[in-house]
Amino acid sequence: MMDFEKMANGGLARIKPYQAGKPIEEVKRELGLDDVIKLASNENPFGMSPKAVEAAVAAVKEGNFYPDSNGYYLKQRLHQKFGYDVKRITLGAGSNELINLLFEAFVNKDVNVVLPEYSFCVYSMDATINGAEVRTVPLSDWKVDLNKVLAAIDSKTRIVAFANPSNPIGTAIPSADMKSFLKKVPESTLVVIDEAYNEFNSGDPTCEDSARWLDAHRNLVVSRTFSKAYGLAGLRVGYMLADPQITSLMDRLRAPFNVNAAAQAAAIAALDDDEFIKKTVENNTKERARYMQFFKEQGVKAIDSKANFVAADFAPHDAQKLASELMKRGVIVRPLLGYQLRDILRISIGTPSQNDRFFKETADLLKTL
Ligand SMILES: Cc1ncc(COP(=O)(O)O)c(C=O)c1O
Repeated sequence: MMDFEKMANGGLARIKPYQAGKPIEEVKRELGLDDVIKLASNENPFGMSPKAVEAAVAAVKEGNFYPDSNGYYLKQRLHQKFGYDVKRITLGAGSNELINLLFEAFVNKDVNVVLPEYSFCVYSMDATINGAEVRTVPLSDWKVDLNKVLAAIDSKTRIVAFANPSNPIGTAIPSADMKSFLKKVPESTLVVIDEAYNEFNSGDPTCEDSARWLDAHRNLVVSRTFSKAYGLAGLRVGYMLADPQITSLMDRLRAPFNVNAAAQAAAIAALDDDEFIKKTVENNTKERARYMQFFKEQGVKAIDSKANFVAADFAPHDAQKLASELMKRGVIVRPLLGYQLRDILRISIGTPSQNDRFFKETADLLKTL
């Protein structure tokens, strides 16, 4: 019998599928519940900006037409708002697609990829699929030690990737440290800074816009998404900023109509809705502090987060078990077993009332254990 696993390219047969958070409807159906909240996928708890909804609905009405293959208006809007050169922008169906394509473009069995421990799982999946060795650099007190990362890089390192702030841990690398790191990395190593959660940290006065460093560092690649602060996770749109030569390669590799018309229209409208972003980020900052206080009161060690979630160490309790108990109580959170972190739960920060519900259910549950 034909063994298709053996026929697959690179290391595809060696990776496990990405484990997505359970959708609310599935949990309702399986557990017979009618009031379920999801604090598991770092989504925007306020939904989409009403302006983005309106723009997406209008675009859907023109759904018989292919979308703009080059995303002209979205790129122009990004240029107007942030000053980014359109020649540096690639649009993707979520930043996940762009990360996949970047690895496909540059990674193969003759190179290695350096990643901090507990990096967003997509990077190691992509490295493995494309046949590369993955070098993992241990964290120090849940933070990236850039000196250790530098020591792991050699002439065969094609990509070093960081999520900043990181997922699933939530800590961030300060801009000053990243800038001095960039000066020391060989030009042949692409430095990917994945800023999916950037908006939740950008209020920090020491946090610079890393896209401003692109002129000085041709090997820098910055990826951003509309899925988190902008609330468009379900529409799938993100962008990558890089050297124009890299952008041109990405444009050749991507599918011609990779970002659908509703997603393009919604992203443009979302960029116009500063109020919505402000409300999202302010809620997150305020509620994140409430999580830290709650965990302190419960004697649970929480990792200081700069993102829209908090990872907390519930040892000696098993996080997987806690997550399934909370699910029975209608609260979906994310255990990090897939990252070999048995005791850690990651909770996405919700609205104040969703967070109240998490606090109540968790406190009640811990009393029974
Ligand atoms: C660090 C990080 N990068 C990228 C992504 C992908 O996001 P999207 O494809 O929705 O832009 C995620 C999603 O959770 C993430 O956590």
